[in-house]
Amino acid sequence: MAIRNIVKIGDPILRKKSRKVEKFDQKLWDLLDDMKDTLDLAQGAGLAAVQVGILRRVVIVDIDDGKGLMELINPEIVEVSDETEESEEGCLSLPGQWGIVKRPKTVIVRAQNREGKWCKFKGEGLRARCFCHELDHLEGNVFTDFVSKMLTEDDIRRARDERIRKD
Ligand code: NI
Repeated sequence: MAIRNIVKIGDPILRKKSRKVEKFDQKLWDLLDDMKDTLDLAQGAGLAAVQVGILRRVVIVDIDDGKGLMELINPEIVEVSDETEESEEGCLSLPGQWGIVKRPKTVIVRAQNREGKWCKFKGEGLRARCFCHELDHLEGNVFTDFVSKMLTEDDIRRARDERIRKD
């Protein structure tokens, strides 16, 4: 296992569409393991393979809610709620940038696991947001494409202070 370099905005690869995974082999498993290490170190909530320079439809999500890490291969959103939610969003490929993005409150994603078996995953709130954010990466999109308002440095400081008070 190894830490991989996270691609930053400005690199044209982030704008490319990722290709379907066809082989569920050691190479894929190494990628997934490395992505986990990379995400853990960066303390992010999710990572798409394109963010480590691999144009494959692979996403991991770990939102620290006790449910552990989810590995989603060839994921597709099959259901979204009409109800939406506006909240802050950031991205490991856009360090220091935060914005308000409207996302569906609940989404259901169909994806393969590392053995190639199809499963369904339900996401609500932050998890739904992460699913949408990471799946956007597979199409070459980043959250600033959908942002309703970017946060200023003051907004970021205030949000951080609020979080500290809550903890
Ligand atoms: Ni991102």
